[in-house]
This record gives sequence, structure tokens and C-alpha cells, in this order.
Amino acid sequence: MRAAILAASPHNTQPWLFKVTDSWIELYMDTQRNVGALDPYLREEHIGMGCALENICLAAAANGYQARVTLVPGNLDPIPAEGMPKLVARAYLSPGKQEQTELYNAIPRRHTNRSAYIPQTPVPPEFIEALSRLTSDEPDVKMFLFTAETDRKKIVEISSAANDEIYSDPAVKAASDRWIRINWSAVQKLRDGLTVDAAGLPPIATAVAKTMPFWMLKWAASRGALGGYSRVMLSAPLIGILAVHDRYDQENCLRAGRIWQRAQLLATARGLAGRPCNEAVEMIDYEKTHKRPAMRVSLLGEILGDPVWQPTFVFYMGYPTLTARASPRRPVETVVL
Ligand SMILES: Cc1cc2nc3c(=O)[nH]c(=O)nc-3n(C[C@H](O)[C@H](O)[C@H](O)COP(=O)(O)O)c2cc1C
Repeated sequence: MRAAILAASPHNTQPWLFKVTDSWIELYMDTQRNVGALDPYLREEHIGMGCALENICLAAAANGYQARVTLVPGNLDPIPAEGMPKLVARAYLSPGKQEQTELYNAIPRRHTNRSAYIPQTPVPPEFIEALSRLTSDEPDVKMFLFTAETDRKKIVEISSAANDEIYSDPAVKAASDRWIRINWSAVQKLRDGLTVDAAGLPPIATAVAKTMPFWMLKWAASRGALGGYSRVMLSAPLIGILAVHDRYDQENCLRAGRIWQRAQLLATARGLAGRPCNEAVEMIDYEKTHKRPAMRVSLLGEILGDPVWQPTFVFYMGYPTLTARASPRRPVETVVL
């Protein structure tokens, strides 16, 4: 469970709850821990659940268990107004070969790195090959990787425009702000959300940002004073897109989450870092809920060039200029049912 809670989750919402028995672990999603209008079908929260599931499987092997996973099928629905925790997966554990992999060892060191990356240092071909192999046991997920500057520029443009558009909606902003933790006492009390420490700023800027009131920090961020989104994204020599057959299929989301967790752990293990940049896919959800023309489906579809695959997660990777700091977590005791 300690490995599970270190997984990635959208806005660090940590939507998970776990039930542990003698022979299996059940994963439940607390549907109320959501980013509202930014993730109206809980698609990203399900991806986060997949991240936690992957850590459970890696920790099982490291502790001498074989984990056999069953996923709960279903289609994603709009966020329920209230609700009981929802079962999404079960990991059956039986005695197995003890295997402490590089991915398992990277679990405590994996952090989302939002600093700029070193553009002149390309990602080694061996790493790209290893990344591509991560989906070999997940035929429902495909990883598209882009290193050419022309391709990356196109994706950065789409993402940056999506970022501006989606956050111009006050409902999205409010849903996102609910998870921004500025002051230390809120971080200590809630142990979730996005903190200044995780913003990828240099140490002095981090200290200054911590003294700013919330409105000033938001103003600085909107002016690009905290880095400039396109510039930071383009500094990374590799952009990846995880695609599935149906982005609103629950199992597909969980599987994509497992792959993202693996990918970021692999990057960590090999001295690289990564950050999701999901605004373009979030705009796909947004256009769907607002019944607008599916502009981002076509823009991202053109990038992938294969209509069989639907993008569901965008990320970039490379060698970072700064070390990422850890983000808070709710303790295990509060998430085990
Ligand atoms: C489905 C999903 C979507 C995410 N989207 C973004 C994103 O668009 N931008 C970003 O900076 N981080 C994104 N993240 C990273 C989370 O904010 C991060 O995992 C969380 O704050 C916990 O921090 P950690 O990964 O350093 O442990 C995403 C994570 C997940 C699982």
C-alpha cells in the first residue's frame, strides 16, 4: 500500500481507496476526489487508478507475490453528484518469484518534473526502445513517440492553445484551484493537491512564490512568469502520446495508467524525467461535454495518423535542469478501508 500511494494522479487528487484481504487487494475510486470540469468523465482519475495498480503489481513481485489482475469493465459516465467508492480493479496475490525490478526501486524517487529540460541532450535510443517495449503485454495501449522538432512543435502548439482555452473557462479554473495548495498548513492538513514545491521552480523562485498570495501566484503563472508553458514543453527532446481503442472505456483508462506509471518509473530509473501535458486531450473531453465540433480529435488524430488509436495521455521526457521535489500524500491508514 505504501508503494501504491506514491503513484501519480491528476492534480495529486489521490482518488484511491484500498481493501486488503488475505489473498487480494481491491482498488476503489473515490469519485468525489475529482478535478470537475477539467475531467468531466473521470477519465484521468481512472488513469491515476491505473498508476496505483501498476505500483501494487511491482511491489507484489518485489515482496515475492505474483499479482493476477482483473479490471472491472464499463464505460465512463459524467461525474456522479455523490456516491459510494467504486470498485475498479482487484489484484489477486499468490506466492511467486521474488523480483525487485529497476521500476520497483524507482517508486519512491519518481516525481513529476515541471522544470525545463536540456534541449541539447537527446534521449538515448536504448531508452526509446525500452519505452516502446513497455506496452508489449498491453495490446490495448499504444505509445507514440516523437523526437523530430517539427512534430514536437506541432504538439506543443496544440497543447499550448488547449491550455489557454480550457483554463479560460471559470468552471475549469475553479475545479483546478480546489487542488492548489499554497500555504504550509493546508499541505500538512490535506496532504494532497499541487504545491509550490512541485511547480518545477528554482529554489529562490520557490521561496518567493511561497510568500505570494494565491491571486498573485495565479497572475504570475498566467503571465508565463513561472516558466512559459510552450518553452518548457519544447525544451524536452521527447514527446509521447498514449493511445487506446476507446478513451471512454474504463479498462482502457486503467491500462493506460499502468503504462504511464511504468514509463515514468523507467525514466526515473535511467536518470531521465517526465511530465504529463494533457490539455489537448482534456479539450477533447471539453468539446464533447459542450457539444462543440471535435476539433482536438482531428488535430491529435492527424499527429497519430492512425484512426484506430485514440489519444488519451500526452507527456514529455528528457534530462531535467532541476531535480523535482516530492508532492504530499495522504497516509496509508487513511486510504485503506
Ligand atoms: C492522468 C494524469 C494526468 C496528469 N496531467 C498532468 C498535466 O497535464 N500536467 C502536469 O503538470 N501534471 C499532470 N499530471 C501529474 C500529476 O499532477 C502528478 O502525478 C501529481 O501531482 C502527483 O505528483 P508526482 O507525480 O510528482 O508524485 C497528471 C497525472 C495523471 C495521473
